[in-house]
Amino acid sequence: MADKPAFQKCMNVDCGATFDISQVLVACPKCGWLLDVQYEWEKLPLPNKLSDFAKHWATRDKPLDFSGVWRFRELLDFCDDRYKVSQGEGQTLLQRCDGVADYVGANKGNLHLQYEGMNPSGSFKDNGMTAAFSHAAMVGATRVCCASTGNTSASLARYAAAAGMEAIVFVGSGRIAFGKLAQALDYGARTFQIAGDFDDCMARVKEATEALNLYLVNSVNPFRLEGQKTIMLRVLEGLNWQVPDWIVCPGGNLGNSSAFGKMFGELKTLGLIPRVPRLAVINSTGAATLDRLVNSPQTLLRYNGGRFARQAICADYDWQDKTNTKPHTIASAIEIAKPVNMDKCLRALEICDGVVRAVPDEDIMNAKAQVGRHGLGCEPASAASVAGTKLLVEEGIIGRDERVVCILTGHALKDPNATVGYHTGEYDPDHKVKGDRPFANMPTPVANELDAIIKAIECK
Ligand code: F0G
Repeated sequence: MADKPAFQKCMNVDCGATFDISQVLVACPKCGWLLDVQYEWEKLPLPNKLSDFAKHWATRDKPLDFSGVWRFRELLDFCDDRYKVSQGEGQTLLQRCDGVADYVGANKGNLHLQYEGMNPSGSFKDNGMTAAFSHAAMVGATRVCCASTGNTSASLARYAAAAGMEAIVFVGSGRIAFGKLAQALDYGARTFQIAGDFDDCMARVKEATEALNLYLVNSVNPFRLEGQKTIMLRVLEGLNWQVPDWIVCPGGNLGNSSAFGKMFGELKTLGLIPRVPRLAVINSTGAATLDRLVNSPQTLLRYNGGRFARQAICADYDWQDKTNTKPHTIASAIEIAKPVNMDKCLRALEICDGVVRAVPDEDIMNAKAQVGRHGLGCEPASAASVAGTKLLVEEGIIGRDERVVCILTGHALKDPNATVGYHTGEYDPDHKVKGDRPFANMPTPVANELDAIIKAIECK
């Protein structure tokens, strides 16, 4: 491995311990904080400007140049090509969407949607999974595991099937959207429905990883986040390498926001972008730990160059346990109360002068209906980015004339129950969304008879 100028480094500024990339770690063995993958940039063949990456696209008959992750490999060069596990991930779309711009109150031409649902398993996770599996292959792992609200398990299952590894996934009992569960089962993952929620699954999978020496691909795995950095490169590419004013993404376990902040920090340091965009991370109000810690006057938690009040996070998690406070949102993908990447997300917010907001389920579902109505579609969690943008425009934090990119993290077909529930009003009782459904598109029952059908079509 010594031929790669990359290493792992503890993010704790008072520790900073470093480890070889051949080590399988999900936390610093010295202090327990998260690890980053870092590079000796001067030893890497970096492009002079980002548009130079276009040269890889010219040779896209090669799988690694076709991959929307690995065609930027100079910026995540931790692994020899022979180990790379690619499924053609990252062929995703940055779509200007004036209909949604209008909905959120932005000027025409200023709102773009980055549709990561176009990935092989239908979510952004594939960007990270190709990187984690490449590392897993490099270190000779054979059994790969995760805890998941659904998309990580679907993605893991697909990559494990392709790589010939054993897939073990933990999902909260009854908490996972059907499209995602269907994928995990179909791709052959051993799927354990733990009697608990995502946070329970996450705690148990860490224990199982240690007990059984499994390879963990949750976003505590620093290699996974390296893959997710490339979503931002494709956003820049889609804007002809211009930096937008805002990136808005949903916040769950906070892997994406952490990866985005890392990428922009690196690009700025390398002189490959003139400035860093602002970042908005959007929680659901039913799972708003980040929002609470960052915005409540009692904590106002900030990264502070790495010297932050980390005990405030522990105190919040303890309070959740003591009061038995559990997350609850129709955006099941982000129904997470103890995000594992909290520290890294705070760092990303500092790098990108970020803000955090929480939006209710009703706003998420209305925003989701608008994303669908204007031709893209997404699952509920993804629409938090659009609902959050609307809120931030209303607050005057995002200017109408600023250029905004909302990340649509998962495909429209991931959670058909939520979608049909919105349009017909028949929500799963557990997830009843209160409030109006102004964009509901009810199906019309019609007799099996042409005249009645014509009448129904003509009568609007
Ligand atoms: N959107 C979707 C569709 C997701 O599946 C997730 C996370 C997020 C947003 C949140 O992203 O964790 O990077 O802040 N899903 C994980 C899973 C937790 O298990 O599939 P994050």
